[in-house]
Amino acid sequence: MGKQYWNPGNMLYPLPAVMVSCQRPGEKPNIITVAWAGTVCSSPAMLSISVRPERHSYGIIKDTGEFVVNLVTGDLAYATDYCGVKSGRDRDKFDDMKLTPLPSKYIQAPGIEESPVCLECRVKEIIPLGSHHMFVAEILGVTVDDRYLDEKNKFHLNQSDLVAYSHGEYFRLGKSLGTFGYSVRKKTEEKGRNKGKRPENKQRENKEKRTQVKKRRS
Ligand SMILES: Cc1cc2nc3c(=O)[nH]c(=O)nc-3n(C[C@H](O)[C@H](O)[C@H](O)COP(=O)(O)O)c2cc1C
Repeated sequence: MGKQYWNPGNMLYPLPAVMVSCQRPGEKPNIITVAWAGTVCSSPAMLSISVRPERHSYGIIKDTGEFVVNLVTGDLAYATDYCGVKSGRDRDKFDDMKLTPLPSKYIQAPGIEESPVCLECRVKEIIPLGSHHMFVAEILGVTVDDRYLDEKNKFHLNQSDLVAYSHGEYFRLGKSLGTFGYSVRKKTEEKGRNKGKRPENKQRENKEKRTQVKKRRS
């Protein structure tokens, strides 16, 4: 067993694969799939997408200064891949994938109706990095699908079958391992369960349990 040392490369996975919609006034809207995307600030709410200048969408986003990030579900995975291999120079991707432009509230570019969450973004800064230029943008508004709202108006995003992208493949998110902070809560519960018990008593209890298990196995 050992380790191999590789040259620098992108190995930060899993990532979201999102559909970014954009539109030049008077033209049809376009969609580009982006995996080089991330949250960069909580307040103001900001995110970044990195796009190669040769992409058709690059010029649209640069010129209009806006775009919509649309989250991807299992049902949208096929369209996400398609929008990541076909160019808006040659195809109308909304039409090809039977997707519906969703009017935005704060910007003129539409979102994608079929997506559970659409983030309307305005570009704040463009950082040329090399192969990709990073658009750092402020999130002006969020549209959520009310299919995932319960009677108390609580949003259940994790019931929407979100998709992640890892090392060239799309995956549905798997089983939940716990909620935010569960590591601390677990310890507290553990403490509560053993409260008032002296360590040597606990050790004896554990030994007894192990003996019982062994007996049952044999
Ligand atoms: C899963 C996936 C992730 C991608 N991520 C990016 C990305 O982060 N940045 C980028 O410039 N292109 C990315 N691409 C490639 C573009 O989506 C692709 O070149 C697309 O056809 C560009 O569309 P456009 O020419 O209509 O803008 C990705 C493609 C796929 C399939």
